[in-house]
Amino acid sequence: MDGIKIYYFSGTGNCLWTARRIAEELGEERTAATDGMTDNTTEATDNITEADDNTTSQVPKSVELVAITAELIDARPAVQCDVCVLVFPSYAYGLPTLVRRFLKNSTFKVNYFAAVSTCGSHTGGSFTSIKRFLKKKKQALHFAAEVRSVENYVHIFGFTKEPKLSERLHNQAEKTAAAGELLAARTVNKVRNFRPFSALINLLFRAAKCAFPLFYKVKKTCNGCGLCYSICPSAAITMVHEKDKKARKSGVMVQKDDLKRPKFAAMKCDHCQACMQWCPKRAIKFMRVTPRSLRYHHPEVGVNELRKR
Ligand SMILES: Cc1cc2nc3c(=O)[nH]c(=O)nc-3n(C[C@H](O)[C@H](O)[C@H](O)COP(=O)(O)O)c2cc1C
Ligand code: SF4
Ligand code: SF4
Repeated sequence: MDGIKIYYFSGTGNCLWTARRIAEELGEERTAATDGMTDNTTEATDNITEADDNTTSQVPKSVELVAITAELIDARPAVQCDVCVLVFPSYAYGLPTLVRRFLKNSTFKVNYFAAVSTCGSHTGGSFTSIKRFLKKKKQALHFAAEVRSVENYVHIFGFTKEPKLSERLHNQAEKTAAAGELLAARTVNKVRNFRPFSALINLLFRAAKCAFPLFYKVKKTCNGCGLCYSICPSAAITMVHEKDKKARKSGVMVQKDDLKRPKFAAMKCDHCQACMQWCPKRAIKFMRVTPRSLRYHHPEVGVNELRKR
């Protein structure tokens, strides 16, 4: 088995940023190790390069960076490689639903499996969950690292402002670099088998989460650009014509205008924040986040890098 694969899930870019840095760290090591190898090896890695070109130009040729999306999971991936790194945000001391589904729907044959989680404060039982999912697939988890980053759960914690914002970005960079070095050295560490408090919090959150999208409101400033649809990792948004609540023709409701606007599928939404935080018109409102509030995304990640469709 050969190759390095980094699977990431990211709403506001923190995880994509960390995944890219880790790719650079592991890619350099691999490039140095393969210097002087036969032409066959070079051709094999060239294939991976072509696939990566769509994702980001900064990723080294020897590393495959793959976004975890609803479409990827439906394809039931078979993950076979030397090194696999899973980069994800911790949600309510556990895993985003899409990451759970990725672990459930995939098969794994990996020599060295690592998990890196960005978070606002604490990852809780995230790594414990991964360990349990992988155990069912007869795959070991060799390494886990927590990378404290900017908190993006603004509904509850509000927006991180300066100077804390810069401190958090700096901390993310330092912790990512440290994790990258440990990964390059194939470090092994221990993950706890059970974290009951985290498991309870996560269970309650997942039960409540289904109702959250019902509270998303799309304001008049929406111009129907479809960005929210194209960046949603969970494929939870469809673009539809709205009905005019007042106007009817022969008793049938008529279309409001020519614009299509987002409609949220409650059961699919992971509450990742992407649509709300990236909307160029700040047209998506949810609880305390209004069109006038600030928005957050990692400053060194471009929205096009997160487009899925
Ligand atoms: C729904 C939700 C739940 C979250 N729960 C936690 C949590 O339990 N602990 C924590 O430290 N951060 C939590 N966060 C913060 C994110 O894990 C953190 O900001 C992460 O870096 C975001 O990554 P991204 O920018 O790649 O989406 C939560 C964020 C969201 C959207
Ligand atoms: S909500 Fe925002 S991102 Fe979505 S279509 Fe409207 S303007 Fe575009
Ligand atoms: S609908 Fe918005 S919050 Fe929900 S998963 Fe999609 S992008 Fe994330």
